[in-house]
Amino acid sequence: MKVDGKHFRSIWRERDGWSVGAIDQRRLPHEFIVANLTSCEDAALAIRDMLVRGAPLIGATAAYGMALAMREDASDAGLKRAYDTLVVARPTAINLKWALDEMRASLAPIDPVERAEAAYARADEIVEQDVEINRGIAGNGLKLIEAIVARKKPGETVNVLTHCNAGWLATVDWGTATAPIYLAHERGIKIHVWVDETRPRNQGASLTAWELGHHGVAHTVIPDNTGGHLMQHGMVDLAIVGTDRVAANGDVCNKIGTYLKALAAHDNNVPFYVALPSPTIDFAVDDGIRDIPIEQRSGTEVTDMTGRTADGRLETVRIVPEGSPVANYAFDVTPARLVTGLITERGVLKPDRASLAAAFPERIAAAAG
Ligand code: MRU
Repeated sequence: MKVDGKHFRSIWRERDGWSVGAIDQRRLPHEFIVANLTSCEDAALAIRDMLVRGAPLIGATAAYGMALAMREDASDAGLKRAYDTLVVARPTAINLKWALDEMRASLAPIDPVERAEAAYARADEIVEQDVEINRGIAGNGLKLIEAIVARKKPGETVNVLTHCNAGWLATVDWGTATAPIYLAHERGIKIHVWVDETRPRNQGASLTAWELGHHGVAHTVIPDNTGGHLMQHGMVDLAIVGTDRVAANGDVCNKIGTYLKALAAHDNNVPFYVALPSPTIDFAVDDGIRDIPIEQRSGTEVTDMTGRTADGRLETVRIVPEGSPVANYAFDVTPARLVTGLITERGVLKPDRASLAAAFPERIAAAAG
């Protein structure tokens, strides 16, 4: 997608052919800084510290992390060490394990002297595949937006609500939840996005607003508790969110607060869609609420806020009384019954076991084998 007219991806192989460039998302929206990853440990730290974040981008970064590791030590022990280091970098987004399993499956059978080159080739494929998948999500989600346009009066705007950042910054390009929005914008459809700020890390206010604004898409940032009010007053045509892991039964794990938005949508007959690339489906998990591990993050994300002061400095302030305990669950699970449909690269699916299995039979076979 574009940043003020210039095309960017969130991650790329640098001109030197081996090191990896990535936008440092900890600095947005205040500073646009590119980080240079030169080792497996750099990649693991980038994921742990949320320099990169968002399920598909975590997977892409891990794939390049394996390639960087193979330059250092391409032995069987080196392969295992890289996998073990990266797979624990964050617990909830299943794309991390998916990408590492893909890398290991292509590297393990080949001679160590060929592994570094093969690792970069496979990581590049994973990256390009992410972009292609998101283009597929864009096309399938666009049909839902076009159906709303057809029901509206001529010239009326389509209002979409989204939570967190499932935009191009969370993927390699296009995003998942934002892919249909960007395509609708490209096709000249009048579209406006309600952006949940998404406490405590504010990925909506900091990242989604930044990328929509720099690409030229109309949007409004709202406090997280506003969505229900907007839905009651007919100001949301549909909600589209991303996800970090979808269980085999269609339960959707996404950024904390998604469940409450789905409840409000259900109560107000607002369609609630989840956009996801197939690597986000975890066929090994049968029941999302019971079995998806929920990351708990540092309490400082709740107690502290960082922002730019009027004189241009970045400053962190405390907003919670000293001594008050805080809890910071990073994700929640929305039960499948509250989800209108899953927008995938293979169409808009019902959120249930049979539909997921029918659309991705090769993944079922891989999970079984
Ligand atoms: O904790 P994060 O920022 O890595 O969380 C990921 C997200 O941004 C969302 O949950 C997103 O909707 C899914 S990733 C496309």
